[in-house]
Amino acid sequence: MSGQNIFDNDIFFDGYKKLREREKNANVLFEIPALFAILPDLNGKKILDLGCGYGEHCREFIAKGASEVTGIDISAKMLEVAMNENSDPSITYLNMPMEDLDKLEGSYDLVVSSLAIHYIEDFKGLVKSVYNKLRSGGMFVFSQEHPLNTTYGNCDFPRWTVDENGNKIYCNLADYGIEGKRDTTWFVDDVIIYHRTFSTIINTLAEEGFVVEKLEEPTPDEEILKKYPDYCDLFHRPDFLIVRAAKR
Ligand SMILES: C[S@@+](CC[C@H](N)C(=O)[O-])C[C@H]1O[C@@H](n2cnc3c(N)ncnc32)[C@H](O)[C@@H]1O
Repeated sequence: MSGQNIFDNDIFFDGYKKLREREKNANVLFEIPALFAILPDLNGKKILDLGCGYGEHCREFIAKGASEVTGIDISAKMLEVAMNENSDPSITYLNMPMEDLDKLEGSYDLVVSSLAIHYIEDFKGLVKSVYNKLRSGGMFVFSQEHPLNTTYGNCDFPRWTVDENGNKIYCNLADYGIEGKRDTTWFVDDVIIYHRTFSTIINTLAEEGFVVEKLEEPTPDEEILKKYPDYCDLFHRPDFLIVRAAKR
């Protein structure tokens, strides 16, 4: 069964677009550099991007030497932007949920997914399908909202304890060990994500035949901190988890 298609909601779509257009958005400062830093050499590689959104990464993969890229996404609105702004003869965009991966023909050297996997209920099923889509020696590299972040739904306590000046001093956490659906509010109500613990993520990859080679939980360097001091909260609780796993 495919997941919720929240990015086709007009209010959500506009809110998300404005966020991504902000110069200091966390994707640009932390998630994208960390993800690209652990990608293997892309030269001549055939790549599949799960939840490709605007297709920015697909175009970057071609710029870095990939021979062929397929970007799939459940949202027609996101893919419309991809086709208008990031088209290339070597990129194919397909409007389909990643839960239907088994229906896609062909095999890939690399499967990438950036900030889409926490929208998927059946992580084990997805990892199994990714494994089957990869050629021998292939890799699965993905980022997702950090498990210390997906644990929150619409909680009835403040996520942060702040001092008298409003500085965040502790992050408040509950229900980390209770996995499953979280109903959240992000631009609109009832945005559904799925919480999995760190151990479930790593154990699932291992059980399905992957060797986890690298994990990243990006934090700001001094230059970023000087410009955007608010991001010191990432030292208390990381926003992103980035994983590189190789097909055994
Ligand atoms: C936060 S955006 C990230 C987009 C892009 N990967 C990036 O990093 O710029 C998440 C994307 O995942 C897509 N998505 C969510 N659930 C999906 C599913 N079940 N199948 C395919 N795409 C999905 C959304 O439509 C959206 O485009």
